[in-house]
Amino acid sequence: MPVIGYGTYETSPEITQKVVAEALKSGYRQIDTAAFYNNEAGCGLAIAQSGIPRGEIFVTTKLAPNKMGNEATAAAVEDSLRELGLKYIDLYLIHAPFGNPEARNGSWTALAQAVVDGKVKSIGVSNYGLHHLDELQRHRATLPSSLKDIPISVAQYELHPWMPRPDIVTYAAKNSIVLQAFGPLALGKKSTDLTLQSLAKKHNKTWAQILLRWSL
Ligand SMILES: NC(=O)c1ccc[n+]([C@@H]2O[C@H](COP(=O)([O-])OP(=O)(O)OC[C@H]3O[C@@H](n4cnc5c(N)ncnc54)[C@H](OP(=O)(O)O)[C@@H]3O)[C@@H](O)[C@H]2O)c1
Repeated sequence: MPVIGYGTYETSPEITQKVVAEALKSGYRQIDTAAFYNNEAGCGLAIAQSGIPRGEIFVTTKLAPNKMGNEATAAAVEDSLRELGLKYIDLYLIHAPFGNPEARNGSWTALAQAVVDGKVKSIGVSNYGLHHLDELQRHRATLPSSLKDIPISVAQYELHPWMPRPDIVTYAAKNSIVLQAFGPLALGKKSTDLTLQSLAKKHNKTWAQILLRWSL
């Protein structure tokens, strides 16, 4: 997975193709979308028209909140593949721990099956609390052997110096889960923070570069 990604939250369907094409042109090789963002199609068109080999682009999408549960999730994977116009998705995340344990566990089983079927390469979660991660680990242990070994590859959270989540970071390290930050620039809201400003000055970098380095 490329370490830096281009996020498309709140990017309207009308402009998505254009901005993702521009992102690919400037060197991004990971595109982060979600069914909920309603812009998978634009991401897919930009990827198709980029001329970049499919294997060099890493595509992440996420399960919509109203698609929790085994059958709905299996159908949602098909919907995402169709919208993106792709034969496989690199990373499929459960967007957030919506619903109840049965729905969350059913979604995970469907995603693990999608990996076995070659529709998705890796799966993970987003916005899961520690108790949700524990619930998922208990569920994985009950799965048949073909699905049990599919790992929680990635967990995506808002992560930056004002939200460092030490409990989640420790859990991820212990369980070999790759942590992925969203909002690594603290949504642009801390650009005038005095400590950040003084670090930027000291290292002759922008505040955004300091925050990216912290994440890395
Ligand atoms: N899993 C989830 O639940 C979840 C939730 C939220 C987001 N995400 C993903 O994470 C991605 C990134 O999150 P994000 O965009 O909210 O957070 P972010 O990257 O921390 O912040 C983006 C904000 O920072 C500003 N900014 C960016 N670069 C800047 C620079 N060099 N100088 C000054 N300002 C700069 C942007 O301003 P302008 O708007 O003016 O450019 C924008 O307002 C999303 O697009 C989405 O793919 C996932």
